Amino acid sequence: MTSQETRDTFERFLHQKIDEYFPALNEINHAVRYSLLAPGKRIRPFLTLALCDFFQGNLEVALRCGVAIEMIHCYSLIHDDLPAMDNDDFRRGQPSCHKKFSESTAILAGDALLTMAPLFLLKELPHHCSPERAIELTQLLLSSSSHEGMIQGQMMDIEQEAKEHSNSASQDLETLKKIHALKTGELFTFSCLAGLYSSPDDSFINLKKEFVLQFSKRLGLCFQIIDDILDESSAFEDLGKTPGKDKDSGKLTYVKFFGLEGAKKEAHALLNQLEESLQAESSVNKTALIKTVISDLRKKIA
Ligand code: IPE
Ligand code: IPE
Ligand code: MG
Ligand code: MG
Ligand code: MG
Repeated sequence: MTSQETRDTFERFLHQKIDEYFPALNEINHAVRYSLLAPGKRIRPFLTLALCDFFQGNLEVALRCGVAIEMIHCYSLIHDDLPAMDNDDFRRGQPSCHKKFSESTAILAGDALLTMAPLFLLKELPHHCSPERAIELTQLLLSSSSHEGMIQGQMMDIEQEAKEHSNSASQDLETLKKIHALKTGELFTFSCLAGLYSSPDDSFINLKKEFVLQFSKRLGLCFQIIDDILDESSAFEDLGKTPGKDKDSGKLTYVKFFGLEGAKKEAHALLNQLEESLQAESSVNKTALIKTVISDLRKKIA
Protein backbone atom coordinates (compact mmCIF):
# COMPACT_ATOMS: atom_id res chain seq x y z
CA MET A 1 0.00 0.00 0.00
CA THR A 2 1.17 3.53 -0.69
CA SER A 3 1.20 6.10 2.06
CA GLN A 4 -2.09 7.62 0.81
CA GLU A 5 -3.75 4.20 0.52
CA THR A 6 -2.64 3.42 4.06
CA ARG A 7 -4.15 6.68 5.33
CA ASP A 8 -7.40 6.08 3.41
CA THR A 9 -7.67 2.49 4.63
CA PHE A 10 -7.29 3.60 8.24
CA GLU A 11 -9.73 6.51 7.90
CA ARG A 12 -12.41 4.26 6.38
CA PHE A 13 -11.88 1.65 9.10
CA LEU A 14 -12.01 4.28 11.86
CA HIS A 15 -15.30 5.71 10.56
CA GLN A 16 -16.79 2.23 10.28
CA LYS A 17 -15.85 1.28 13.84
CA ILE A 18 -16.93 4.62 15.32
CA ASP A 19 -20.32 4.25 13.60
CA GLU A 20 -20.57 0.84 15.22
CA TYR A 21 -19.37 1.74 18.73
CA PHE A 22 -20.51 5.38 18.99
CA PRO A 23 -23.59 5.76 16.72
CA ALA A 24 -24.85 9.34 16.47
CA LEU A 25 -27.82 8.73 18.78
CA ASN A 26 -27.20 10.86 21.85
CA GLU A 27 -25.21 13.81 23.18
CA ILE A 28 -22.22 11.91 24.54
CA ASN A 29 -21.76 10.03 21.25
CA HIS A 30 -22.11 13.30 19.30
CA ALA A 31 -19.31 14.83 21.39
CA VAL A 32 -17.06 11.79 20.88
CA ARG A 33 -17.70 11.77 17.11
CA TYR A 34 -17.15 15.54 16.88
CA SER A 35 -13.65 15.26 18.38
CA LEU A 36 -12.53 11.89 17.09
CA LEU A 37 -13.66 12.21 13.48
CA ALA A 38 -12.28 15.76 13.11
CA PRO A 39 -9.26 15.93 10.80
CA GLY A 40 -6.38 14.81 13.02
CA LYS A 41 -3.09 13.89 11.43
CA ARG A 42 -3.47 10.22 12.53
CA ILE A 43 0.30 9.92 12.83
CA ARG A 44 0.09 7.31 15.62
CA PRO A 45 -2.12 4.78 13.78
CA PHE A 46 -0.10 5.47 10.63
CA LEU A 47 3.01 4.43 12.56
CA THR A 48 1.30 1.23 13.68
CA LEU A 49 0.42 0.40 10.07
CA ALA A 50 3.87 1.42 8.83
CA LEU A 51 5.62 -0.80 11.40
CA CYS A 52 3.17 -3.61 10.62
CA ASP A 53 4.14 -3.26 6.96
CA PHE A 54 7.83 -3.06 7.85
CA PHE A 55 7.66 -6.29 9.87
CA GLN A 56 4.99 -7.99 7.72
CA GLY A 57 2.53 -8.22 10.59
CA ASN A 58 -1.24 -8.77 10.56
CA LEU A 59 -3.07 -5.73 9.14
CA GLU A 60 -6.34 -6.61 10.93
CA VAL A 61 -4.57 -6.46 14.30
CA ALA A 62 -2.74 -3.24 13.42
CA LEU A 63 -5.93 -1.47 12.25
CA ARG A 64 -7.69 -2.27 15.52
CA CYS A 65 -4.74 -1.09 17.60
CA GLY A 66 -4.77 2.10 15.52
CA VAL A 67 -8.41 2.77 16.41
CA ALA A 68 -7.74 2.20 20.12
CA ILE A 69 -4.71 4.52 19.95
CA GLU A 70 -6.80 7.29 18.36
CA MET A 71 -9.41 6.84 21.12
CA ILE A 72 -6.78 7.26 23.85
CA HIS A 73 -5.06 10.09 21.99
CA CYS A 74 -8.34 11.93 21.38
CA TYR A 75 -9.38 11.58 25.04
CA SER A 76 -6.01 13.04 26.06
CA LEU A 77 -6.54 16.01 23.70
CA ILE A 78 -10.10 16.71 24.93
CA HIS A 79 -8.89 16.76 28.54
CA ASP A 80 -5.66 18.62 27.65
CA ASP A 81 -7.75 21.48 26.20
CA LEU A 82 -9.96 21.92 29.28
CA PRO A 83 -9.70 25.23 31.19
CA ALA A 84 -8.12 23.39 34.13
CA MET A 85 -5.35 22.11 31.87
CA ASP A 86 -4.08 24.04 28.79
CA ASN A 87 -7.30 26.04 28.33
CA ASP A 88 -7.35 25.85 24.53
CA ASP A 89 -10.41 26.99 22.58
CA PHE A 90 -9.51 25.33 19.27
CA ARG A 91 -8.47 21.84 18.24
CA ARG A 92 -8.19 20.30 14.79
CA GLY A 93 -9.39 23.54 13.21
CA GLN A 94 -12.66 23.71 15.16
CA PRO A 95 -13.79 24.79 18.63
CA SER A 96 -12.48 22.35 21.23
CA CYS A 97 -14.92 19.82 22.67
CA HIS A 98 -15.73 21.84 25.83
CA LYS A 99 -16.36 24.96 23.72
CA LYS A 100 -18.68 23.20 21.27
CA PHE A 101 -20.51 21.22 23.98
CA SER A 102 -19.82 21.95 27.67
CA GLU A 103 -17.05 21.21 30.15
CA SER A 104 -19.00 18.38 31.72
CA THR A 105 -19.75 16.82 28.32
CA ALA A 106 -16.07 17.14 27.32
CA ILE A 107 -14.91 15.43 30.52
CA LEU A 108 -17.37 12.61 29.93
CA ALA A 109 -16.50 12.31 26.22
CA GLY A 110 -12.86 11.87 27.25
CA ASP A 111 -13.89 9.30 29.87
CA ALA A 112 -15.99 7.44 27.27
CA LEU A 113 -13.06 7.21 24.85
CA LEU A 114 -10.67 6.11 27.60
CA THR A 115 -13.07 3.39 28.70
CA MET A 116 -13.87 2.19 25.19
CA ALA A 117 -10.26 1.83 24.01
CA PRO A 118 -9.42 -1.32 26.04
CA LEU A 119 -12.95 -2.67 25.72
CA PHE A 120 -12.69 -2.29 21.95
CA LEU A 121 -9.37 -4.18 21.85
CA LEU A 122 -10.64 -6.99 24.08
CA LYS A 123 -13.78 -7.39 21.96
CA GLU A 124 -12.13 -7.17 18.56
CA LEU A 125 -8.58 -8.52 18.76
CA PRO A 126 -9.32 -12.16 19.74
CA HIS A 127 -10.95 -12.64 16.31
CA HIS A 128 -7.60 -11.87 14.67
CA CYS A 129 -4.84 -13.01 17.05
CA SER A 130 -4.32 -15.27 20.06
CA PRO A 131 -6.13 -14.31 23.28
CA GLU A 132 -2.70 -13.96 24.92
CA ARG A 133 -1.60 -11.41 22.30
CA ALA A 134 -4.90 -9.51 22.67
CA ILE A 135 -4.35 -9.20 26.43
CA GLU A 136 -0.70 -8.27 25.96
CA LEU A 137 -1.57 -5.46 23.52
CA THR A 138 -4.33 -4.15 25.80
CA GLN A 139 -1.96 -4.12 28.77
CA LEU A 140 0.72 -2.32 26.74
CA LEU A 141 -1.77 0.36 25.64
CA LEU A 142 -3.03 0.90 29.18
CA SER A 143 0.39 1.05 30.79
CA SER A 144 1.65 3.54 28.18
CA SER A 145 -1.28 5.83 28.95
CA SER A 146 -1.30 5.23 32.74
CA HIS A 147 -0.08 7.28 35.70
CA GLU A 148 3.36 5.85 34.97
CA GLY A 149 3.12 6.90 31.32
CA MET A 150 1.16 9.62 29.54
CA ILE A 151 -0.83 10.76 32.59
CA GLN A 152 2.37 11.18 34.61
CA GLY A 153 3.79 13.28 31.75
CA GLN A 154 0.67 15.48 31.71
CA MET A 155 0.94 15.84 35.50
CA MET A 156 4.59 16.91 35.32
CA ASP A 157 3.78 19.33 32.46
CA ILE A 158 1.14 21.04 34.61
CA GLU A 159 3.36 21.05 37.71
CA GLN A 160 6.22 22.57 35.73
CA GLU A 161 3.92 25.33 34.41
CA ALA A 162 2.85 26.19 37.97
CA LYS A 163 6.52 26.40 39.00
CA GLU A 164 7.29 28.75 36.10
CA HIS A 165 4.53 31.06 37.33
CA SER A 166 5.94 31.13 40.85
CA ASN A 167 9.46 31.73 39.46
CA SER A 168 10.77 28.67 41.23
CA ALA A 169 11.47 26.84 37.99
CA SER A 170 14.75 25.10 37.59
CA GLN A 171 15.20 24.94 33.85
CA ASP A 172 16.31 21.40 33.80
CA LEU A 173 16.76 19.60 30.48
CA GLU A 174 16.40 16.18 32.08
CA THR A 175 12.96 17.14 33.46
CA LEU A 176 11.92 18.52 30.09
CA LYS A 177 13.02 15.34 28.30
CA LYS A 178 11.17 13.23 30.84
CA ILE A 179 7.95 15.25 30.39
CA HIS A 180 8.13 14.83 26.61
CA ALA A 181 9.03 11.14 26.86
CA LEU A 182 6.03 10.50 29.07
CA LYS A 183 3.30 12.81 27.78
CA THR A 184 4.03 12.10 24.10
CA GLY A 185 6.71 9.42 23.81
CA GLU A 186 4.80 6.70 25.63
CA LEU A 187 1.90 6.62 23.16
CA PHE A 188 4.33 6.80 20.23
CA THR A 189 6.11 3.79 21.70
CA PHE A 190 2.88 1.85 21.98
CA SER A 191 1.95 2.87 18.43
CA CYS A 192 5.20 1.46 17.06
CA LEU A 193 5.24 -1.62 19.30
CA ALA A 194 1.68 -2.46 18.21
CA GLY A 195 2.93 -2.64 14.60
CA LEU A 196 5.61 -5.13 15.67
CA TYR A 197 3.26 -7.09 17.97
CA SER A 198 0.79 -7.52 15.12
CA SER A 199 3.21 -10.26 14.03
CA PRO A 200 2.24 -13.66 15.47
CA ASP A 201 5.90 -14.67 15.89
CA ASP A 202 7.13 -14.27 19.50
CA SER A 203 10.79 -14.86 18.75
CA PHE A 204 10.70 -12.29 15.92
CA ILE A 205 9.14 -9.78 18.33
CA ASN A 206 11.91 -10.39 20.87
CA LEU A 207 14.51 -9.93 18.18
CA LYS A 208 13.16 -6.57 16.98
CA LYS A 209 11.79 -5.07 20.20
CA GLU A 210 14.93 -3.13 21.17
CA PHE A 211 15.09 -1.44 17.77
CA VAL A 212 11.41 -0.44 17.93
CA LEU A 213 11.74 0.91 21.48
CA GLN A 214 14.72 3.06 20.61
CA PHE A 215 13.22 4.26 17.33
CA SER A 216 9.85 5.18 18.85
CA LYS A 217 11.32 7.00 21.86
CA ARG A 218 13.41 9.19 19.56
CA LEU A 219 10.47 9.77 17.27
CA GLY A 220 8.11 10.72 20.13
CA LEU A 221 10.59 13.22 21.54
CA CYS A 222 11.20 14.65 18.08
CA PHE A 223 7.44 14.97 17.43
CA GLN A 224 6.88 16.91 20.67
CA ILE A 225 9.87 19.20 19.98
CA ILE A 226 8.35 19.97 16.56
CA ASP A 227 4.96 20.61 18.21
CA ASP A 228 6.73 23.09 20.53
CA ILE A 229 8.43 24.75 17.52
CA LEU A 230 5.19 25.03 15.54
CA ASP A 231 3.34 26.48 18.54
CA GLU A 232 5.81 29.36 18.41
CA SER A 233 6.17 29.75 14.65
CA SER A 234 3.01 28.62 12.81
CA ALA A 235 -0.35 30.12 11.92
CA PHE A 236 -3.77 28.93 13.10
CA GLU A 237 -4.63 27.74 9.57
CA ASP A 238 -1.69 25.31 9.57
CA LEU A 239 -1.95 24.23 13.21
CA GLY A 240 -5.71 23.99 13.67
CA LYS A 241 -5.08 25.25 17.23
CA THR A 242 -4.23 28.64 18.70
CA PRO A 243 -0.52 29.38 18.26
CA GLY A 244 1.64 31.05 20.89
CA LYS A 245 -0.11 29.39 23.83
CA ASP A 246 3.02 27.75 25.27
CA LYS A 247 4.85 31.05 25.63
CA ASP A 248 1.80 32.80 27.08
CA SER A 249 1.26 30.12 29.69
CA GLY A 250 4.96 29.79 30.56
CA LYS A 251 5.23 26.14 29.51
CA LEU A 252 8.63 24.52 29.70
CA THR A 253 9.28 23.61 26.05
CA TYR A 254 12.27 22.97 23.81
CA VAL A 255 11.81 26.45 22.36
CA LYS A 256 11.95 28.01 25.80
CA PHE A 257 15.05 26.00 26.64
CA PHE A 258 17.02 26.22 23.37
CA GLY A 259 15.36 29.08 21.44
CA LEU A 260 13.59 28.51 18.10
CA GLU A 261 16.72 27.78 16.06
CA GLY A 262 18.25 25.63 18.81
CA ALA A 263 15.06 23.57 19.04
CA LYS A 264 15.07 23.07 15.24
CA LYS A 265 18.66 21.86 15.46
CA GLU A 266 17.71 19.32 18.13
CA ALA A 267 14.80 18.08 16.00
CA HIS A 268 16.95 17.77 12.86
CA ALA A 269 19.60 15.83 14.79
CA LEU A 270 16.93 13.39 15.99
CA LEU A 271 15.51 13.04 12.46
CA ASN A 272 19.01 12.24 11.17
CA GLN A 273 19.48 9.61 13.88
CA LEU A 274 16.09 8.11 13.02
CA GLU A 275 17.04 7.83 9.35
CA GLU A 276 20.39 6.24 10.19
CA SER A 277 18.86 3.66 12.52
CA LEU A 278 16.29 2.77 9.86
CA GLN A 279 19.05 2.35 7.29
CA ALA A 280 20.86 -0.09 9.55
CA GLU A 281 17.67 -2.13 10.00
CA SER A 282 16.32 -1.97 6.47
CA SER A 283 18.20 -4.60 4.44
CA VAL A 284 15.31 -7.07 4.51
CA ASN A 285 12.43 -4.77 5.37
CA LYS A 286 10.12 -2.32 3.60
CA THR A 287 10.93 1.22 4.71
CA ALA A 288 8.81 3.35 2.35
CA LEU A 289 5.95 4.12 4.77
CA ILE A 290 8.14 4.90 7.78
CA LYS A 291 10.36 7.11 5.66
CA THR A 292 7.36 9.29 4.77
CA VAL A 293 6.83 9.97 8.51
CA ILE A 294 10.40 11.23 8.80
CA SER A 295 10.30 13.30 5.59
CA ASP A 296 6.91 14.85 6.51
CA LEU A 297 8.33 15.94 9.88
CA ARG A 298 11.42 17.37 8.19
CA LYS A 299 9.22 19.49 5.90
CA LYS A 300 7.41 20.99 8.88
CA ILE A 301 10.60 22.55 10.22
CA ALA A 302 12.40 23.20 6.91
C1 IPE B 1 -1.11 16.70 19.62
O1 IPE B 1 -0.93 15.57 18.83
C2 IPE B 1 -0.57 16.43 20.99
C3 IPE B 1 0.89 16.24 21.00
C4 IPE B 1 1.45 15.21 21.51
C5 IPE B 1 1.74 17.27 20.47
P1 IPE B 1 -1.13 15.63 17.26
O2 IPE B 1 -0.33 16.76 16.71
O3 IPE B 1 -0.86 14.29 16.70
O4 IPE B 1 -2.68 15.99 17.13
P2 IPE B 1 -3.75 15.58 16.00
O5 IPE B 1 -4.13 14.18 16.27
O6 IPE B 1 -3.09 15.74 14.65
O7 IPE B 1 -4.88 16.53 16.21
C1 IPE C 1 -0.15 17.34 24.82
O1 IPE C 1 0.92 18.16 24.62
C2 IPE C 1 0.19 15.93 25.03
C3 IPE C 1 -1.03 15.18 25.37
C4 IPE C 1 -2.25 15.56 25.10
C5 IPE C 1 -0.86 13.93 26.05
P1 IPE C 1 0.52 19.65 24.22
O2 IPE C 1 -0.33 20.28 25.25
O3 IPE C 1 1.75 20.36 23.78
O4 IPE C 1 -0.38 19.36 22.92
P2 IPE C 1 -1.16 20.47 22.12
O5 IPE C 1 -0.15 21.50 21.68
O6 IPE C 1 -2.22 21.01 23.01
O7 IPE C 1 -1.70 19.71 20.93
MG1 MG D 1 -0.68 20.08 27.28
MG1 MG E 1 -2.15 21.46 24.97
MG1 MG F 1 1.77 21.81 22.12
